Amino acid sequence: MTVLKTPESLTKEHRELFHKLGKLAAEKGETAREVKELLTVLEPHFEKEEEAAMPLLGALRPLSEGKMVRDPSEVSSLHRKFTSEYPEMLEEHNQVKRLIDNVRNAAKKAQDESALAMMDELEHHAAVEEEVLYPAAMLVGAMASVGAKVRAQ
Ligand SMILES: [Fe+2]
Ligand SMILES: [Fe+2]
Repeated sequence: MTVLKTPESLTKEHRELFHKLGKLAAEKGETAREVKELLTVLEPHFEKEEEAAMPLLGALRPLSEGKMVRDPSEVSSLHRKFTSEYPEMLEEHNQVKRLIDNVRNAAKKAQDESALAMMDELEHHAAVEEEVLYPAAMLVGAMASVGAKVRAQ
């Protein structure tokens, strides 16, 4: 039996990214201004992920070990929420990528290596989500829905 709790490593990664971006945004100059712009999209996007996608991943390990989720209906409702928000979340990633490019352009002019490295880190974060974490969250939702149907019979 399991309770839906976002894996700590994911929460920590979001917190760390946000902290580092906040520091960049607090500096002076064009790069910092572009980072602030980026944060206006990124902050609500992170919140959405933490509400809709990441809790589903709390069930990933137990499900992979053949355990049941304690409340399949909770997983199903999160799955519905994530499914409905998924296209918008991917669109937000596209927006984030465009804003990352703006930060990169400013950082290149200012020869700001740490901002450039930070943008690589953020882009990698989004790629891992698109290629691994979002599909994994979808799979958890789909599996739990199947489990709920089996139980209801
Ligand atoms: Fe994220
Ligand atoms: Fe994301």
